[in-house]
Amino acid sequence: MKIGIIGGTGDIGEGMALRLSPLFEVIVGSRNSEKAIETSVCCSDTLHSRNVKCSCSGTTNADAVLNADVIILAVPWKNLTETVRSLPDFGDKIVVSPVNPMEKRDHFVFVPPDEGSVALYLKRILPPEARLVVAFNTIAANRWKAIDEELRYSVPVCGDDLEAKSIVSDIVNSTSALKAYDAGPLAASCMVESLTPLLLNIARYNKMRDVGLRFV
Ligand SMILES: NC(=O)c1ccc[n+]([C@@H]2O[C@H](COP(=O)([O-])OP(=O)(O)OC[C@H]3O[C@@H](n4cnc5c(N)ncnc54)[C@H](OP(=O)(O)O)[C@@H]3O)[C@@H](O)[C@H]2O)c1
Repeated sequence: MKIGIIGGTGDIGEGMALRLSPLFEVIVGSRNSEKAIETSVCCSDTLHSRNVKCSCSGTTNADAVLNADVIILAVPWKNLTETVRSLPDFGDKIVVSPVNPMEKRDHFVFVPPDEGSVALYLKRILPPEARLVVAFNTIAANRWKAIDEELRYSVPVCGDDLEAKSIVSDIVNSTSALKAYDAGPLAASCMVESLTPLLLNIARYNKMRDVGLRFV
């Protein structure tokens, strides 16, 4: 399976490339193909130095969409609309949103669009065939990048397309020690997207780092 990471040069994208490329064919996307190639080479070098085989390449965001089966939108909420509009048709590919609409004010605040969540906004602007799934919202980039440590987190997964949700849950469950939990339809996605500002506030007010979720 080929996984394209749009904005794969960013904080979470880089970490995802490190974790996913030993398991899947990862295509790092960027607005700038050279930047994507640099990230993919860095990812491969890091893994090869640990004797881990991987498949990671870098290209433009558009080529990542065209060549991948599953596309992760690893870009900030404020840049999401322009990014999605710059991409070719997703067709009926699986599109994964880890995007959290939040702002840092005195504390972190959940600031969703009028639709109620980024996922519901995306559902409105993506072609109707695109199979949208919400996942990976609550794992901090630093944890993704700490590849010598297991990711022992629960991952809520939302979606209306049951097959797409199952495929994304399989990706989650094959990555380190992550465990996917069905969090319901896209209509429930605001609850998943609002968890990260909560986790960041808990980290801040309790002097913790990279607070994560584990359902027991
Ligand atoms: N960071 C975390 O710990 C974390 C955890 C869970 C979920 N998330 C979610 O994951 C998404 C990505 O977060 P991040 O921290 O990885 O973001 P980031 O590092 O700030 O940015 C990711 C990538 O987005 C692209 N980008 C930046 N500015 C842009 C612009 N003006 N127009 C178009 N593309 C632009 C860049 O790629 P190019 O310059 O290569 O095009 C950049 O490398 C966010 O929606 C966030 O809510 C993040």
